[in-house]
Amino acid sequence: MSTTIKKGGMTIPQIRARKDAEPLVCLTAYSTPMAKFLDPFVDLILVGDSLGMVLYGMKTTLGVTLDMMIDHGTAVMRGAERSCVIVDLPFGSYKESPEVAYRAGARVMAETGASGVKLEGGAEMAETIAFLTTRGIPVMGHIGLTPQSLHADGGYRAHGREEKEAETMLADARAVADAGAFAVVIEGTIESVAREITEAVAIPTIGIGASAACDGQILVTEDVTGLFTDFQPKFVKRYAELGDEVGKAAQAFADDVRARRFPGPEHCFGPAKKT
Ligand code: KIV
Repeated sequence: MSTTIKKGGMTIPQIRARKDAEPLVCLTAYSTPMAKFLDPFVDLILVGDSLGMVLYGMKTTLGVTLDMMIDHGTAVMRGAERSCVIVDLPFGSYKESPEVAYRAGARVMAETGASGVKLEGGAEMAETIAFLTTRGIPVMGHIGLTPQSLHADGGYRAHGREEKEAETMLADARAVADAGAFAVVIEGTIESVAREITEAVAIPTIGIGASAACDGQILVTEDVTGLFTDFQPKFVKRYAELGDEVGKAAQAFADDVRARRFPGPEHCFGPAKKT
């Protein structure tokens, strides 16, 4: 069990206080080195269950387990000094009952040292969010396009284009906020819906494919940096092409090895010492 205690990092109340203030900058990380790279620049690092698809090559996030999230959460905590680290509760670990969710959340908090958990769902999760938050587990909500409900929703699609669905999203956001969530991710919706929700709730809204009307933004780091290229959602902006750089480095290494240019004398240990 990890005993990581974070000192001087962004706290949950500090994240909550960013409502209607400077936009919250959030990215995902799954490993210690990536957390170290991101930490100076972001307010919040999410250990997202997107790791199932991005790191493990799964087709959906449904195969991600609580143990996987705890392992990656622990690794990220080792690299994050100043940002607030939140860990996703994976599919099957929290919707059964508030008690089951509490046990999953408590494991994440105790074993990783993260500041809170994120869970998907709206009004139907309000009781669970209240159960967790009143027992010391800060919760970030996630409404709109919720990848764990992919099959029930009939695929990845923008939510809230129809009035009825927009009303449901607003009701979901209100329920999640009233239940005690400290922030809510809004994924995949149109600007008018994101704006209405952001104006309606007292907690920060963090958008992903939900326009600039939100109080903050989150993206998957591998999407942003070009390390995940299987597909690119419309809402992703690519800021680097690191996948191409990795390919170039591998090609240069291969060329050097085949031509016996690597290792050079500077990479080799000196001659044996005479005794
Ligand atoms: O799993 C994840 O990375 C997420 C974010 C994209 C919001 O839920």
